[in-house]
Order: sequence, then structure tokens, then C-alpha cells
Amino acid sequence: MQKITVHADRGRTRINRHIYGHFAEHLGRCIYDGFWVGEETSIHNIRGIRRDVVEALRGLRIPNLRWPGGCFADEYHWMDGIGSRTNRPAMVNTHWGGLTENNHFGTHEFMDLCEQLECEPYICANVGSGTVREMQQWIEYLTCTEKSPMSDLRAVNGHPDPWKLTFWGVGNESWGCGGSMRPKYYADEYRRYATYCRNFADNRLFKIACGPNSDDYHWTETLMARVPASQMQGLSLHHYTLAGSWEAKGSATEFTEEEWFHSLQQALFMDELIKNHSTIMDRYDPQKQIALVVDEWGAWHDVEPGTNPGFLHQQNTLRDALVAGVTLNIFNNHCDRLRMACIAQTVNVLQAMILTEGERMLLTPSYHVFQMYQVHHDALMLPVEVVCERYEQNQESIPSLSASASRSEDDRVHLSICNVHPIRDEIVGIEVRGMLPETMQGQILTASNINSHNTFDNREQVKPVELTSTRFSGEVAQLELPCKSVAVLEISQTA
Ligand code: AHR
Repeated sequence: MQKITVHADRGRTRINRHIYGHFAEHLGRCIYDGFWVGEETSIHNIRGIRRDVVEALRGLRIPNLRWPGGCFADEYHWMDGIGSRTNRPAMVNTHWGGLTENNHFGTHEFMDLCEQLECEPYICANVGSGTVREMQQWIEYLTCTEKSPMSDLRAVNGHPDPWKLTFWGVGNESWGCGGSMRPKYYADEYRRYATYCRNFADNRLFKIACGPNSDDYHWTETLMARVPASQMQGLSLHHYTLAGSWEAKGSATEFTEEEWFHSLQQALFMDELIKNHSTIMDRYDPQKQIALVVDEWGAWHDVEPGTNPGFLHQQNTLRDALVAGVTLNIFNNHCDRLRMACIAQTVNVLQAMILTEGERMLLTPSYHVFQMYQVHHDALMLPVEVVCERYEQNQESIPSLSASASRSEDDRVHLSICNVHPIRDEIVGIEVRGMLPETMQGQILTASNINSHNTFDNREQVKPVELTSTRFSGEVAQLELPCKSVAVLEISQTA
């Protein structure tokens, strides 16, 4: 018997909406084509930014957007991206395809994008090839309220008022593309850079240090031991979901059931990673002042055939929707320490929400999961217990169900459930304790095949549909949950 118990009276911790953040790097067609089309184009835009993409993303109420990288961040020199576009110096994007970057999308364009999206900017600044002075001046340029060299320059460039800016990353993957540093060295570098990340007037920076690569627990231990909470408000973690290996990740659309299983097993590994990194963090920071920030996660497949390998352009199927659903359930359930995350990457790159082709765009299955899970933004996490069958593959197994629940400020209880089994429909007993549940209804995302996806010619192959209402008998109801599905339910209570 499959059973999910929701403890509606045991909510203690809020699910920070910033768990539902996104990431946009100067990589492939994410910024250029995806967001930025310039003003001289037939594609509908507001000050050069695609209107259709902004409108679609507003449907997700994106809480934060991380930029400009990624690996790109550590070779980005922000002063090249301000002032008249025609005079901006170009550079080579050495990480991603070796293309010439014209710097037409810079600080002002990014802040404008965030304003159009109504989200908070999260800037990741250059440690690998930058200087302390350069980082310090960028913060002054963005946030200084008084007359100063950088605020004067900002005014000359058309923005006299400072911006409000909270999230500030000090380097990206400093153990790898961000400078190949060892943890002790980075910890000292972090302290040096963070010292000069000033708070101007009432602006308060939330400084995020480069954290571990997946299960590099030594990195976490070193950073926590050497950097105090007064200097570091967040520690990042990067973990990508691969069905195969880095050398052969596998196709985004043509995959076997074995690869489906491996993707979901990898996505579930996030639970172990968060638990283990949190255990280390708890030893140094039992009050949980420092947030764990998973600012890069998602499914990484081989690029679409015929596309530039440096552009990381991949399709997005029902499998990716399940990866998103189980990961977001894990994030919700760890919301005491895990308070921010950014899926990679918003448009046209990796596990994207949106794909574009010229004037056309489509919403991916992953978009729909983020749209359905919005109910958890800033809601009180309710503990859930899941008792379920295992899904077995080649002598390995994972739980077939994943779930999380929350109570919103207006007192609505929501339960999200993923059935990762590709062929087994489930009847799930839902028990809600601590309230008098009456009915349950919501939306479900599934499709005919494990690799179903949306294309520019068939954009609605995978989209959520309404679930008919189920009535509780006492505290219990039976839910029919199809195989390979993500459901989000609202549980109403007896008045
Ligand atoms: O998201 C793509 C790349 O993955 C990022 O640039 C880098 O930080 C990570 O290795």
C-alpha cells in the first residue's frame, strides 16, 4: 500500500521562495537570442529584451535570476558592459564556443531585465581573473546612493538612482573554471574579496561564497572552518543530473528506461548531498545562519544533434519534468538550511524553461513544473511521510514516490507528488493529520511517453491538466496517480 501522510499541524519552517530561482549565463543562446534581441529587430521587445520570454517567465514569478555566469563570470569585466553599446569592447567567450562577445548585454540591461521580470538580481562576480578593486567598484556602481566616482559614472550612463541589490556571489566554481583554487586558498581569497564588498546606505549584501562541487565535503569543511558567518551569508553547491557520464551524457530525447532510472537516481542524490553538507555546516553554524545555496542544478544531456557543442542546447522531456519535481520536493523538505537555488539555465541552455527559435518560443515540461510548484513559494513547509514501493532497475532501486507539502499564508494546504515509475500507476492513500480535510484537487503533468516533449510544431504535447476533485473520508483519501507524473494538489478543509 502506498501512503503519504501530511502533518498539517507540524509546520515550523518557511520555504524560501528563492529556492525557485533561475540562472542565465552568457552561454550559447541563453542571453543572446533567448533574452536579448536588441531594439533593431522584428521580434517584439522592450528596450531590446524579448517580450514573449519575459511574459512567460512572469508566469513563474521568478524570485531571483543569477548572472552573468557560471564559468563566464570569472572572465567577465563589468566595465566592458556599460556605456554606449557601439563603444563597448568585445571579448572572446573562451568557455563557451570561443565566440566573440560584444558586451551589448551588460549591467544596465541585466538590471532592466530583472525589473521587467520583477525578480531580484543575483550577480556572480569575477574572482578568477578579476581584482578586488573591480568587484568593489561594481558594487559601488550598482548601489552607492551618494555622489561618488562610480555613482557619477552610473548617472552618465543613464541611471542616476542606485539599484537595490542583495545577492552577491564571490566567484563561481573557484575549484574549477573559476581559478582552479584549493579550498584553503579560496577561503582566504574569499575573506579578502568579501571585506571590500561594502554595504552602501541601507543596501545589505547577502554574500555567497563558492561552495563544493557535488560531494566534495572537504571543500565545505574548509570553508566553514575558515570563514565566519559575519562574512558569508550563503555557501553555494553545484550538482548536475546526468543519465550517463560527463563524456557520454546521453541524448535528451532518445533514451532508454535505464537512462530514465539513472537520471532520477541522480536527482534523488541531491537529498544525500544536502543532508551531508548540512551536517558539516551544522557543526560550525548550529544556528543555521549561513544558507546552503544550490545555485546550479538540473539535467545535463548531450547537445541537440547539429548544434554547437559549446552552446549546451538540449531538448526537455517529461524526464526533465520529473527531475525538476523530485528536486524541488527535496529542496522544500530541507528548507531550514537550503534557502536559495537556481536551475541551469532559463532559456535555450541545459534544463531550460523556454526554448526559442527566431520569433517562436515554447514552454518546456520543466516550465510547467515550476509553474505548478509556485504554491510553495514562502509557504510553511509541512512534514510528509512517504511509504511506497521501490522502483527497481538492474539490481538497483529508488523510491517510486517523492512528495512535499506546505501551507500558504492564506491557509491553503498544498501537496506535490511525483510518481517516477515509468509504467506503474499507483493508488496512493493520502492521510492529512492536524486538520479536517474535505476535498483534494489540482493539476497533473504527464504524457504518453517517457520522452514526450514540446516542439515548435507541437507546443502542447506536454502540459498540465486538471485533476478531478477527490473527497476525503475522515482523514484519508485515495488518489489515482498515473505513472511518470507530477501532481500538485490543494487540500481544502471543512469550514
Ligand atoms: O551551467 C553551465 C556551467 O556549468 C557553468 O558555467 C559552470 O559554473 C558549471 O560548470
